[in-house]
Order: sequence, then C-alpha cells, then structure tokens
Amino acid sequence: MSLQIRAVGVIGAGTMGNGIAQVLAAAGYPVTMRDLKPEYLDRGMVTITKSFDRLVSHQKLMPEQRDAALSRIRPTTELKELAPCEIIVEAILEDHELKASVIRELDAICSAEAIFATNTSSISVTQIAAASRIPGRVVGMHFFNPVPMMQLVEVIRALQTTDAVCETVVALVESFGKKARVCKDSYGFVVNRVLIPMINEAINCVHEGLASPDDIDVMMKLGANHPMGPLALADLIGLDVVLDIMETLYQGFDDPKFRPSPLLKQMCHAGYLGRKKGRGFFTYPAA
Ligand SMILES: NC(=O)c1ccc[n+]([C@@H]2O[C@H](COP(=O)([O-])OP(=O)(O)OC[C@H]3O[C@@H](n4cnc5c(N)ncnc54)[C@H](O)[C@@H]3O)[C@@H](O)[C@H]2O)c1
Repeated sequence: MSLQIRAVGVIGAGTMGNGIAQVLAAAGYPVTMRDLKPEYLDRGMVTITKSFDRLVSHQKLMPEQRDAALSRIRPTTELKELAPCEIIVEAILEDHELKASVIRELDAICSAEAIFATNTSSISVTQIAAASRIPGRVVGMHFFNPVPMMQLVEVIRALQTTDAVCETVVALVESFGKKARVCKDSYGFVVNRVLIPMINEAINCVHEGLASPDDIDVMMKLGANHPMGPLALADLIGLDVVLDIMETLYQGFDDPKFRPSPLLKQMCHAGYLGRKKGRGFFTYPAA
C-alpha cells in the first residue's frame, strides 16, 4: 500500500535538485529545498524562475500558475526544516560518504515512516541504504537532465527497499506527470547500462578510424532512428561523465566488455569534455 505524500524535501539546489523541486512544485507539492549556502539556493531559484518564465512565454503555463508554483518552494540552509516531509529527495554531489552522512542526519530528525530517495547516477543504492537505521525506507529516484523535459524516472529498488516505499515512489512520479519504471539496484541501472556502452562503442569506431564523428552520428540517426547521434550526445552529457559511468560499469562488473575507449580517456585528459568546454567530438561556439 502506498503512503500519502503531502510535503517533499529536496537536498541540493544544483542542476538536478532545482529541476526536481520545480516539477514537484508545479504538480502542487509544497517543497522545502535545502542547500549549504544562501547563494546556492538563490542560484537554484533563479534557474527555476527562468524555466517557469519560458513555459509562460510558450503559453504552456499561466503566469498565476508560475507564481503559485514558485510560492510553494521554500529554500533553506537548515536541514531540520525537512523534518516534517514524507519524502526527501537527495541530489547532492556524487560521493558515497557525503550521501551516507546525509542519510544519517535525516535518520536523526525525520519520522520512521519518511522515505529517503537518492538521485545517484552510479553509486549502489543498496550501499547508501545501509547507512540508514531503517534501510527499507531508502530508494533510488534517478531523474534525467534536464529534469523538467525528460519523461522517465528510474525507480531503483535496493536490496532492502520495501514494497510500500517502491509503490509510493512510483505513484508520486506518476502524480507529477512523468513515467516511472522500477529496476533492481545494479551498476548503471538500466538506462546508463545500455546507453553509455553504446556511446563508448561509437567512440571506439572513431578511434579505429572507421568513419568520421559526423558520419557515425548520421549513420545512427538514419540507420537506427536515434533522435541524436551518440557522439553529439556524449558531448552533451560531458565526456568526463561518460568516462565515470564506464569506469563504474567496468570496475563494478569486472567485465572487459565495459572497458572505456582509449580515445575517451585521451579526450578527457586533453580537457575536450564536450559542450561545456566548447570542444568534444564537435566544436561549440562560446555561450
Ligand atoms: N547532472 C546530471 O546530468 C545528472 C543526471 C542524473 C543524476 N545525477 C546525480 O544527481 C546528483 C546531483 O548532481 P548535480 O548535477 O545536480 O550536481 P550539482 O553539483 O549541480 O549540485 C549539487 C548541489 O548539492 C549541494 N550540496 C552538497 N552537499 C550538500 C548537503 N550536505 N546538503 C545540501 N546541499 C548540498 C551543492 O552545494 C550543490 O548545489 C549526483 O548524485 C549526480 O550523480 C546527475
């Protein structure tokens, strides 16, 4: 049986946290968003406001709806303000020890029924859950970037996650208009497990000189019906992030099929990280 969610906490007001706060507030949930410094919260609120403004200018949202949604988000630097929330979504840096310490801090202030969701993209949710005194309340909610645009949330079931927690999170995701699919905890979950090795293989094709980056992307768009070529997608994600995920798969499964491409490593060493650096497999004019 799923539990009723009335108020949501979000920890981290960065790229993912502010997007998560935005979609929850837009769906009518009061959101308390916590970051470490007021300037980080201000930056998150500016991003959310701009995103809502774009929706208003495209007539996808009424100005009153934007104002109401913004008023539902309460930024704070105080963790204790998350104590009344039924669910807290953590979107802080990708570091196991930091995430585990947040779980321990939440354990100390939240009710025994509260659910703790982590937006980790590569750390074992089972290992994060082990930090809680009630491990069954911990679950993965893997959102995709940009959060307001992307339809899927992978719900990651740790070894310890209870049925009720899983059902509640799936119902929550559906309530804010996204699609939830449940997946057992494993390296890369499902989307990255499939997507990132495909990108890595496209990079190996460049490395072996099979075709130019442009031609490889055209082949995958026209021959496999992908909306975007794998190399342009690698540049968008960031080649350092692609390498991190490949390393997680390679080390986690201890399987040579996940070996990161030597060219991917070289590009990272050279600082050609994709769009954010103006150069990856393609070049990008300064923003
Ligand atoms: N960026 C992506 O494309 C993406 C996609 C899916 C999942 N993720 C995952 O989401 C998480 C967040 O990534 P991001 O890109 O938003 O990072 P980010 O660096 O943009 O934001 C992280 C924020 O967390 C804050 N923070 C750190 N420790 C904190 C604490 N104890 N309490 C409150 N706030 C704290 C930081 O000040 C920062 O504002 C990571 O686990 C990442 O792996 C990222």
